[in-house]
Amino acid sequence: MRGFISLAVLLAVGCAEAPLLPWLAATPPDLPVVAGGDTKTIRGADLAARAGVVLVVEPVAGSPTLLVGAPLTVARPEATTPGSSTVLACLDGYRATLRADDLQGSTPWLAWAAWGSEAFAATDAQGKRIALGPYYLVWDAADRGAERPWPFQVHRLEGLTAPAYGAITPAATAPPEVRAGFAVYEGHCAKCHALGGIGGDLGPELGCPAGVTTYWQRAALARWIAEPAALRRGARMPPSGLGAADIEAVIRYLEHMATALDCGAR
Ligand code: HEC
Repeated sequence: MRGFISLAVLLAVGCAEAPLLPWLAATPPDLPVVAGGDTKTIRGADLAARAGVVLVVEPVAGSPTLLVGAPLTVARPEATTPGSSTVLACLDGYRATLRADDLQGSTPWLAWAAWGSEAFAATDAQGKRIALGPYYLVWDAADRGAERPWPFQVHRLEGLTAPAYGAITPAATAPPEVRAGFAVYEGHCAKCHALGGIGGDLGPELGCPAGVTTYWQRAALARWIAEPAALRRGARMPPSGLGAADIEAVIRYLEHMATALDCGAR
């Protein structure tokens, strides 16, 4: 059984005052969805009309939590259409990409409130409170999917019908290590970094006008990717958790892009 309860069910079992509970009464903010050059706005009231309570096991706290939200497909029905991708853009520039093909029957939720709390926030490892709204992408506790992104402060969705990073995908004729490196880059780096303007902007651009491999020593780059804090105190980039072979591959990809990327065109 999946870990969500629809509000209609809650009402049916006698929680008649449920809509008066403050965390349920709040209407979530409107959510812009950009797709194919058009922006449409999903009204918060429409999401509220499809609200449910979902049980999640948060990756940071690790404890089960009840959140109020709606399935992502209410805001973007194409999120599960094979071949399409959805980018969740966050206030700090982080961009998580969800490929429909990776969802395999699981339901991501867009949450906007925590059950039993008027605040919608979490405490990070340093004890700092972080606001989770406007929206927090979460996964049903019953969903034992592999590695799932949990982006918070999501303020915009972007729909893609083509592969998300098509323009920075190495050609099929590129060496296999370069293509393997792209897969690592796409999964671990592109959400925070742009190459030629494509990707997230929480971290610095790594491709233009000069590729990062043209001005960083190779050994330092490998060390940085493994453990940024080993080189810079207060580094905001998290350790990648990648093994030596993946780090080597991602550097090969960045070296390839340092010459393959056309910075003039962007
Ligand atoms: C959660 C976001 C995030 C992820 C994921 C991330 N980075 Fe970073 N990265 C940053 C930030 C922020 C900086 C800026 C320096 C700092 O404060 O840590 C940075 C800095 C860098 C730098 C140094 C750039 C410079 O000249 O200062 C390189 C190189 C780099 N990242 C490569 C990577 C690679 C390769 C990956 C994937 C394996 C990656 N990053 C994943 C956020 C991220």
